[in-house]
Amino acid sequence: MNKPVKKAVFPVAGLGTRFLPATKVMPKEMLTVVDKPLIQYAVEEALAAGIEEIVFVTGRGKGLLEDHFDHSYELQDLLKSRGKDEALGALLASLPPEGNYSFTRQMAPLGLGHAVWCARNIVGDEPFAVILPDDLVQSRVPCLRQMVAAYEKTGANVVSVMEVPREHTSRYGILDPGEEMGNLVEIRGLVEKPHPDQAPSTLSIIGRYILMPEIFDHLSRKEKGAGGEIQITDAMAKMLRPQNFYGLRFEGRRFDCGDKLGFLQANIVFGLERDDLREGLLNFMTEKTL
Ligand code: G1P
Repeated sequence: MNKPVKKAVFPVAGLGTRFLPATKVMPKEMLTVVDKPLIQYAVEEALAAGIEEIVFVTGRGKGLLEDHFDHSYELQDLLKSRGKDEALGALLASLPPEGNYSFTRQMAPLGLGHAVWCARNIVGDEPFAVILPDDLVQSRVPCLRQMVAAYEKTGANVVSVMEVPREHTSRYGILDPGEEMGNLVEIRGLVEKPHPDQAPSTLSIIGRYILMPEIFDHLSRKEKGAGGEIQITDAMAKMLRPQNFYGLRFEGRRFDCGDKLGFLQANIVFGLERDDLREGLLNFMTEKTL
């Protein structure tokens, strides 16, 4: 039987320079889509996929993330004394089970592969998930849950993938795809951010991974790749054969919330999903003066 995926790593040390000045003081993972920070969507997705332990790889200036997942006694007391039970209930429900969250630090911005490597001692010798909170997925079944199902079926490493326009391949990890099996694509090779002319396909990785712990052996060599950074894609490419990798064409829609347009689109789409906002938002968007 495959070992279950119980831990998820959240690399959250990035500076968020694409969102300045909003992210000058505030971590980019605290940007809100409707009324919830990106990091909370990501954590909820993980918990819905059966993840029990959450590992944040943080950096300087990210203390707010830690506070967000803790009690806020003053606020809780105030809500209680004012009889705002619903708001209080929602706040308490968003708190993680005690002791299941850990924080480690990426002490230098050396790349995504390095950030994941920083979690190696907490993850240990078991398969684990990685979620990049910038990538927000709207779907019927949470994206990571779809991936866990694919892992349970194959016992292999799984990344979530989607087609992108060829001119965008230099923004993503790109697959050299093999055989197709339903919504799974066998991965023959992987290239990080290839020029459109050199990309082996237009099938790109989005920020969800299920990886075997052997990835840490490759990451520990600290080899630099695209952009002079230690890339998770390069370490995965080195693991191919003997290890199997599949791309999952997940059901759902992905928004790049590290990008202003993607972030605004996510706010509209997630806003339209809300019963209390849908009508007002639709009315506004169809106003002639817009
Ligand atoms: C990272 C990965 C890349 C992946 C992308 C998905 O890139 O390195 O392979 O396709 O996330 O969002 P980044 O967006 O951090 O540059």
